[in-house]
This record gives sequence, structure tokens and C-alpha cells, in this order.
Amino acid sequence: MQTLVTDRSEEAASWLDRGETVAFPTETVYGLGADAFNAKAVAKIFKAKGRPSDNPLIVHVATPERISEVAAEIGETARMLVERFFPGPLTLVLKKRDSVPEIVSAGLPTIGVRCPSHPVASEFLRYCCHPVAAPSANVSGRPSPTDWKTVYHDLGGRIACLLRGEPSAIGLESTIVDCSVNPPRLLRSGAVSIESLRELVPDLEIATACKPGESPKSPGQKYRHYSPEAEIVLVEAPQESLPLDPRAAWIGLATPPTGATKSLRCRDMDEYARVLFGFFRACDAEGIRTIYCELPPDEGIGRAIRDRLIKAAGKN
Ligand code: TXA
Ligand code: MG
Repeated sequence: MQTLVTDRSEEAASWLDRGETVAFPTETVYGLGADAFNAKAVAKIFKAKGRPSDNPLIVHVATPERISEVAAEIGETARMLVERFFPGPLTLVLKKRDSVPEIVSAGLPTIGVRCPSHPVASEFLRYCCHPVAAPSANVSGRPSPTDWKTVYHDLGGRIACLLRGEPSAIGLESTIVDCSVNPPRLLRSGAVSIESLRELVPDLEIATACKPGESPKSPGQKYRHYSPEAEIVLVEAPQESLPLDPRAAWIGLATPPTGATKSLRCRDMDEYARVLFGFFRACDAEGIRTIYCELPPDEGIGRAIRDRLIKAAGKN
């Protein structure tokens, strides 16, 4: 299959409306979309990514008003969160409408819904006839793509169209809050922080990593995620000297240790979030074998960075 790369939202939307897969930019990471009401089109997403069929997709809508096209119920809490955080990097899990094909929710009675704030994403979604089901636009298990070239690297030749945009400003996937349970539960951390969610939802619960044999609250949690080829080593505090591997890299907020072949010092946590997945990919391209990653403070977006780092290290 030839992948068309375009800057025109309208052209990209016309491919999607014809039942094809289209990658598009969002403020979190790039997504790989298909018409959420076309089960055959959605099946192409799973095939292109090599995604397990029991991992549900998030549905993207152009405006908050359109949530009701896929969600059967929007409760009081969900309404408050929509009012405060949509459009933006927050996904809400709500009771699903029967008309949304089972393949989208992987058989679950709920559906994840998000309204991106990225101008190109909004324009693209407005041109599409229906809401757009989209996971991150990477091959399953690899770090999420934050620029169009990475999407092309992973999925070129496997998808019909790639809508080109700027690199994603946030760089980590959306925060996910399950509003189908009481009290609501945080399933994935992201740029919308727990602190800001708790201002509106004081009783918000935090889903803990599941124990062996227990079924995960969010199906995606059970898969190894965000992983580069290199081994990830987590370091708590700045370290002046690290055990030096000739092919080691380092990323963090502190002064880089001497001796790392490749290092990236981030100005703040927002920058750390934005560059992390790209750094993983660059390390792989350069044959780095070990990446030392400084764990940032467990607050704000730092929590999301820590979560991705721990998952990339293969721990839970
Ligand atoms: O920022 C984002 O959320 C990006 C952009 C493209 O919007 N999308 C994204 O999708 O990260 P994906 O598929 O890579 O991650 C979606 C996560 C998975 O862990 C999945 O299990 C969970 O959301 N999820 C989706 N629907 C769910 C549901 N009904 N209940 C619980 N978890 C759900
Ligand atoms: Mg993903």
C-alpha cells in the first residue's frame, strides 16, 4: 500500500470517510484513525499496528457536544470535567452507545472519548463524517510517535494517509479518567494532572497496577509499553558517576553525568515529557544499549513521565 502524506485536513478526512486509516497529529501524540462506526475500517488499525484485539481504542470528537454520538450517558462528574478540560489532553471513559461497533471498545460496555485541542486535529475531525477511533500511531509496544516522520517510519506502507503537522506539544498520551464507576478512577496519568482533577473530583481514585491473575482496569495496562530496544535504567537522584557502559545514554533534569555517549538535560518537566519518546527512538537509531533515565518529582506531569519510564523499564 502506498501511504499518501498530506498537509490538507480535508483530503485526509476524505480517505477516512472512505473506510481507510489516517494518521493525524494531536497535542499529546500522533494518532492512527479510522471511522469509529465502520468496523472494517477499525479492523485495519489493529492490523497496521499489530495491536492485540482486546485493547480498546479511544474515540476522538471534533467538539464536546459530539460526545453523545458515542456515549450513552454523561453523568454529573463527566460533565464537569468536559466543561473544564475539553478540548485537551483528557480522555473520559463513559457508558458506550450500542451503535458503536464492539471492535472499538474491544467488547467493553464503555468507551473512551477525547476531544483534542490541536488545531489540525480539530480541523480534520470537523471534516470527518463520524467520530474517529484512534490509538497512538506507532507499531504496538514501541514508544508513541510525537512527529510525523516517526509515524512514517513505523507505519509507512501500512496506512492509507498521513496528515502531516508540527511535533506534538505535550509528547505523552492523554490522562484517562473512568467516569463509568463511582468514585471516578484515574486509569492513566498525563498532562491533566491529578492535582487539577482533584480540584473538581476530590474523591478521584487512582487505579493501582494489577496483581498477577487480576484483570486490569484499563486493558492497555497489561501490555509492555513505550519501550525502546535499549535497556532502561531508572535513577532516583542526580548521579555524578554512573556505571559506564560504552553505549550508554542519559536523560533527565539534573546535570548529565560525565561519560554518557549521549545525554539530554531538560529545562523542566514539560520539556522532559515532550522529548522523552523522541529520545528513546533516537537512542535506538544510534545503537545505544542502555538509557539512564532520571525519575522526576512525582507531581504534575512528573507523575506521567514516571509512569512511562517505569513501564518502559518493563516494571509494573
Ligand atoms: O493521547 C492519547 O490518548 C492518544 C491520542 C492519539 O489521542 N491515544 C492513545 O491511544 O494513547 P492508545 O490506544 O495508545 O491508548 C489508549 C488507552 C489504552 O491503554 C486502552 O486500554 C485504554 O486507553 N482504553 C480505551 N478505551 C477504554 C475503556 N473503555 N476502558 C478502559 N480503558 C480504555
Ligand atoms: Mg498506544
